[in-house]
Amino acid sequence: MTQKIAVVPCDGAGKEVVPEAVKVLKAAGAPFEYESFQVDADSYIKTGVAITDEVWKELQAADSILFGAVGDPRVPDPKYLAGVLLRLRFELDLYVNLRPARLYDERLSPLRREDRRKVDLLVVRENTEGLYVGMGGRFKKGTEDEIATQEDINTYRGVTRILEHAFGLAEREVVMVDKSNAMTYAGGLWQERWKAVAARHADIKTRHLFVDAAAMQLVKDPSQFDVIVTGNLFGDILSDLTAELIGGMGIAPSANINPTSGRGLFEPVHGTAPDIAGKGLVNPIGAILSAGMMVEHLGHHEMAVAIEAAVESAIRAGECTRDLGGSLSTSEAGDAVVKRLKD
Ligand code: NAI
Ligand code: MG
Repeated sequence: MTQKIAVVPCDGAGKEVVPEAVKVLKAAGAPFEYESFQVDADSYIKTGVAITDEVWKELQAADSILFGAVGDPRVPDPKYLAGVLLRLRFELDLYVNLRPARLYDERLSPLRREDRRKVDLLVVRENTEGLYVGMGGRFKKGTEDEIATQEDINTYRGVTRILEHAFGLAEREVVMVDKSNAMTYAGGLWQERWKAVAARHADIKTRHLFVDAAAMQLVKDPSQFDVIVTGNLFGDILSDLTAELIGGMGIAPSANINPTSGRGLFEPVHGTAPDIAGKGLVNPIGAILSAGMMVEHLGHHEMAVAIEAAVESAIRAGECTRDLGGSLSTSEAGDAVVKRLKD
C-alpha cells in the first residue's frame, strides 16, 4: 500500500536538503507517493498567511510530513515560526520529539578521550508543552517598568505520556533531566510522575540529573547515555549539544510523532542556515537520516537500516560536505548515499 508523504522543504537550507532526502527515499525503493507544498517565507510575505486552510487539510491527511526548516531573515516576526512548525507540532499533537545522536565516524567527535567517544543516545523531548506554548505577556511594554512573563506549562498527562514513551525506547537506562531544585512547581510534577512511571518499568535502569549536570556529563562522557527524557526547552538545548558530539548541526535528525494517532513530522534538527544557504554547501545528511526515521515510523524497518548504513558508509569514505571534512556539494553528498543504496 502506498503511503502519502507531504513534502514541505520550507525555507533556506530546507529547500536544498529535503530534495536530497526524497532522492534517497526513491533510491531506497520506499513505497511512497510524494506531494510538495509551498509553505515558506515568500508566500507568508505575500499573503500574511503561514499555512492556508487548504494546505493544512492536506498536511493533516498525509501519512507523514517530511519537513526542512523554517525561518527567513526577512521575517523576524515570531508569528511565522509559530504558524508553521509549532502549529504542526501542537495541533497534530506530535508530543514525542526524538533526537538520536549516533557517531558514525570517530573523526567527527570533538572529544579528546577515545574511550568516551561511543555516542549512541536518544534525546526524547516533550514537544507540546513547557515554555514554548506561548503563554505570558508583556506589561508596560517598552517602558522601564516593563514586566515580561513566559509561563512554563507542564500537565500531568503531558509529562506522564512522554516519560512512558521514553521507557519504551530504552535498552539500558532512562535518564530524566529537569531543574527541579530551582523550578520546584514544574519540577515537582516531573519528579512525581517520574517516580510513578519508573516504578512501572522496574526492568530498566533509571537515573535523574539536573540539566546543568546533564550538559556537563554529556561533554565529559557521552558514552554513558542511552535515553534522555526531558521537557521542551531542555530537550531543544541538549539536542544541539548532542548534535555537535556527532559532527554538528548538518548531521542530526529528528522525528516529531504522536504514537497514538500515528502522525509524524520528520525534520533535520538544524534551521535554515542563512549563512551558507543557496550555495550548495549545506549538508543533506540530517534531512536524509530524518527521512530514514520516517521510513522506520511507517513500518519499513529494513529500508531504514539500509538508509542509515548507506549514510554511515558515505561518511566514513569522506564522501560528504565540508562541515564533515569532505568536499562534496549538497546534491553530490546526496548522490553518495544514493549510489550505496543502488549497489
Ligand atoms: P541553523 O541551524 O540554521 O544554523 C546554525 C549553524 O549550523 C550555522 O553556522 C549553519 O551554517 C550551520 N548549519 C545548519 N544547517 C546546516 C547544514 N545542513 N549543513 C551544514 N551546516 C549547517 O540555526 P540559526 O542560525 O540559529 O537559525 C537560522 C534560522 O533558522 C532562523 O530563522 C531560525 O529561526 C531558524 N531555525 C529553524 C529551525 C527549524 O525549522 N526546526 C531550527 C533552528 C532554527
Ligand atoms: Mg533547536
